[in-house]
Amino acid sequence: MKINVEKVVIPVAGWGTRSLPATKNLPKEMLPVYRKPAVQYVVEEAMLAGLTDVVFVTSRSKKVLLDHFDRNLSLELVLKRAGKEELLEQVKAVAEMVNIISVRQKEQLGLGHAVLCAREVVKKEPFAVLVGDDLVFSQEPAIKQLIEVAKTEQMPVIGVMEVPLEKVSNYGIIGGEEIAPGLFRVKKLHEKPAPEHAPSRLAVVGRYVLTPDIFDYLEQIEPDLRGEYQLTDALKFLARENRLLALKISGIRFDIGDWVDYLTANIYFGLQDQKLSRELKQSLKNLLEDQGGSC
Ligand code: G1P
Repeated sequence: MKINVEKVVIPVAGWGTRSLPATKNLPKEMLPVYRKPAVQYVVEEAMLAGLTDVVFVTSRSKKVLLDHFDRNLSLELVLKRAGKEELLEQVKAVAEMVNIISVRQKEQLGLGHAVLCAREVVKKEPFAVLVGDDLVFSQEPAIKQLIEVAKTEQMPVIGVMEVPLEKVSNYGIIGGEEIAPGLFRVKKLHEKPAPEHAPSRLAVVGRYVLTPDIFDYLEQIEPDLRGEYQLTDALKFLARENRLLALKISGIRFDIGDWVDYLTANIYFGLQDQKLSRELKQSLKNLLEDQGGSC
């Protein structure tokens, strides 16, 4: 099958338990990072990679997320009357970025199950998956890096990044043979292994380019001990057949479900804003001095 990707699946149905109590009623993907909700960065990454159809896999509490990508005519009127043209353009632009399609995941049964929920919309085309709470920033959008490789090699590709050994148990970890610098033929995949069982420190970040045969594998897998269907287990079928590549993504990644990453992401953007950075640096400096300079 010739790999040409137009659709992107963004699963956003999770509970966001790591971010409670902030996420009691607010979807974790809507937590603000600097001036935008986290999920907007993910959609922007898809758009920059030329992916025009975004399939959100949602749950019942995610209306506010879908509304973010829709017009808000009352707000637009208020901004227009107040002469706030720049803000008006920004607010309107979000609704015009991509085509939004939404499918419901009726029970939160894991990432694999969420991806399977998109089957009827994706149909028989290759597609991308971007995890809604993983932010990756780089010169070339992370998913574009994967699409390029998938097109050249005509194979599904997943994004990986090196993590410290003590963090391997938070991720899917691959083991493989490096066939070109930063490109691996995946031989092993372990979902959240103990450090002593990890085949490497290369962690799967939430970026995947897949072919529709993954849906057949997703239908065959069994749930894990927590009752969740893992995408990793379906990917193992491809790895066994030597049909899965992993690309080391270049860029900086923030897992917004992790408080340190979340706070760092906000500071990262604040420091890049020329209007804010001087004051922000001073404020951080004062804060650290007040804490006795310990960091
Ligand atoms: C999922 C995947 C895992 C991957 C991670 C990236 O885990 O199952 O393999 O490393 O996304 O964010 P989750 O974060 O849903 O537990």
